[in-house]
Amino acid sequence: MPNQSDILNALSYVDDPDLKQDLVSLNMIKDVKVEGNNVSFTIELTTPACPLKGKIESDCINTIHNMVSPDLQIDITFTASVTSARQQNESVLKDVKNIIAIASGKGGVGKSTVAVNLALGLAKTGAKVGLIDADIYGPSIPTMLGLQGERPKVVEIDGQHRMQPLEKYGVKCLSIGFLVDETQAIVWRGPMVSSALKQFVTDTEWGELDYLLFDLPPGTGDIHLTLVQTMPVTAAVVVTTPQEVALADVKKAVSMFKMPNINIPVLGIVENMAWFTPAELPDNKYYIFGKGGGEAFAKEYDIPLLGQIPIVQSIREGGDTGRPAILEENTPSSAAFEQLLQLVARHIAIRNAQIEPTKKVDIKS
Ligand SMILES: Nc1ncnc2c1ncn2[C@@H]1O[C@H](COP(=O)(O)OP(=O)(O)O)[C@@H](O)[C@H]1O
Ligand SMILES: [Mg+2]
Repeated sequence: MPNQSDILNALSYVDDPDLKQDLVSLNMIKDVKVEGNNVSFTIELTTPACPLKGKIESDCINTIHNMVSPDLQIDITFTASVTSARQQNESVLKDVKNIIAIASGKGGVGKSTVAVNLALGLAKTGAKVGLIDADIYGPSIPTMLGLQGERPKVVEIDGQHRMQPLEKYGVKCLSIGFLVDETQAIVWRGPMVSSALKQFVTDTEWGELDYLLFDLPPGTGDIHLTLVQTMPVTAAVVVTTPQEVALADVKKAVSMFKMPNINIPVLGIVENMAWFTPAELPDNKYYIFGKGGGEAFAKEYDIPLLGQIPIVQSIREGGDTGRPAILEENTPSSAAFEQLLQLVARHIAIRNAQIEPTKKVDIKS
């Protein structure tokens, strides 16, 4: 009769396909039980959005059948614990495992649309997610989440006033749009903008989060510098359209993150508005902004292409009505965002396993 160590020994020959190490060394196997021919154990994945669950499951079953006995009945339970590459002793956002910046070169390429759908999609898989609208001059998260006119509560904790993020569709969020009248133009100087963003981080009760996403303004400006100086950003996701002018600017965004004194890993790029498919002609693709620009860029810069999102009327409508497209079931748009979020989660896990924690940027002026 096989015992627990036979099973663990077999599983030590099964690798996590991304992390290229075996599941036992990675500490992903828990609660191994053997009763007669019945074997059960739990696999703790590095993200609930893991796209490789099926492959890991069949690799485990096949290896145990080959190495231990083909007669065993194997029952695998999956749980997830999102990994983190943050250092233990950090003071800012200490209960947040991953801080992800969503950036772009140009405005209007769909950064906020991608950020919102990504946040909601990750939350749908069971992760704890926060979203900060860091586009202080053009906040769009309140509209996209149908939270116009809402105000975050302020609570007193240990004699200090702390903001509580709003919550919608399972995502905690904060935007400058919640703090000022929407119709008012925001004419702020750089230092005021920086201090507003810092308050979102330091004076807000975010609690425990697996992922905190920052929807950044376009380009490379003050807010980007404030972000990287206030906290160690785990990684950046860069959004572009396939169009030449957008790609030219995205190079600057990628170069900024790669600057030696900033040094934030770029997880990959998202090609938004990759093509248009009319609802009545679902097999047709029209490459309105050009074809394959994102893919070519990803190759040239040797970064992954994390996803291609088509132009779909319902994506625009979802943003305007406060019900983002990822909430729909089985539509081409929600499928595109789901693929994207799985790849993003996967590359965060790979980044955490392979690259040192990011350091907070110290820029001497
Ligand atoms: N894939 C898409 N399909 C249809 N409309 C989109 C898509 N992505 C973005 N949009 C629309 O384009 C506009 C700009 O998108 P937005 O996310 O606000 O861009 P950014 O944050 O980069 O300025 C919005 O009206 C949005 O609804
Ligand atoms: Mg935006």
